[in-house]
Amino acid sequence: MDSRELKKLREWFSKNAAALPWRSLDLNAMRDPYAVWISETMLQQTQVSTVCDYFVRWMERFPDISTLAAASEADVFKYWQGLGYYSRARNILKTAQTVKGSLPATRKELEALPGIGAYTAGAILSLAYHKPEAILDGNLVRIFSRFHALNFLPTESATAAATYWDFAKQVADSPKAYMHNEALMELGRTVCKIKNPDCEKCPLRGQCKAYTNGTAAQFPPPKKHIQKDWHGTVLVVESKDHKILAIHGGQKFFSNQFALPHFETLKSVAAGLPVEAEKLLNIDQVLEQQRVGQIKHNITVHKISCDVLHVILKTTATKAAINHPDFQWIEKAKVTETLANSFSLKALELI
Ligand code: ADE
Repeated sequence: MDSRELKKLREWFSKNAAALPWRSLDLNAMRDPYAVWISETMLQQTQVSTVCDYFVRWMERFPDISTLAAASEADVFKYWQGLGYYSRARNILKTAQTVKGSLPATRKELEALPGIGAYTAGAILSLAYHKPEAILDGNLVRIFSRFHALNFLPTESATAAATYWDFAKQVADSPKAYMHNEALMELGRTVCKIKNPDCEKCPLRGQCKAYTNGTAAQFPPPKKHIQKDWHGTVLVVESKDHKILAIHGGQKFFSNQFALPHFETLKSVAAGLPVEAEKLLNIDQVLEQQRVGQIKHNITVHKISCDVLHVILKTTATKAAINHPDFQWIEKAKVTETLANSFSLKALELI
């Protein structure tokens, strides 16, 4: 974007900036870094219309960093409740307790703080301190993708990210970076929208490649769904007295809850007891084992397929030796109530 486009952008913003609680009426005024930090963190995963009330309530209760630093986590969560992603609130409190009253004014120091990444640091430095620092959020990605006809996303590779950040840096290489950054976010939110962009209202359409080619709807390209195949063996270990073994932690999936033991195994290998399972169970206790079928299950990016092995022990639950720091024997009749994850439930259905 050259200086002519950026001038048009500033003129557009001066006429069209919505009145929002974290914005001064004077769009050229420096802002309170604390208020920028809180509003931009809230805005990262939540819409402007929702954030307005939350921001106002927050600033009434925690008007400055020192007040926030003295608050309890429970109180902070109360003011965050409904915004989701509570790790953001926890990080805000941690950072408030770390910085002793005011936020630093360099990218390096800001990015070292919990919950402050490249975007939030750039927003604080430009919007509050009026430094020529870049930001890149979903709005700017969409605008750059359309304006420069980029058919890739910054998340696709390090070079892709660098390309987008370079465009963001060009825009921010100005004493008016604060205005360029916020004007682009506003433009993305109200004009260069995800669906049905209002190109006729856009101050940048003259140089926008996608507008010129009539292809705005094709940019940015859709996210590529990465899927990772994971093949394993899941064990339904049953004791002589009909209890089922569940373990907690130390496994590929379900680090925070009880689940059936599962081990990564090669697809090509006939489903026997995996080597690690022999360590868990001590093979001398096994009376018989039978492959009862296969389950398929997806967890985040993992496309899981698992052989299900029913392993019956010679011993009762109390006598069984289980080599794991946190395990539980569950009555077979109650196991589907006790194990809440559908990965385990699918395997149990086959028994
Ligand atoms: N989205 C995130 N931050 C914003 C801001 N400061 N103005 C408009 N939209 C935004």
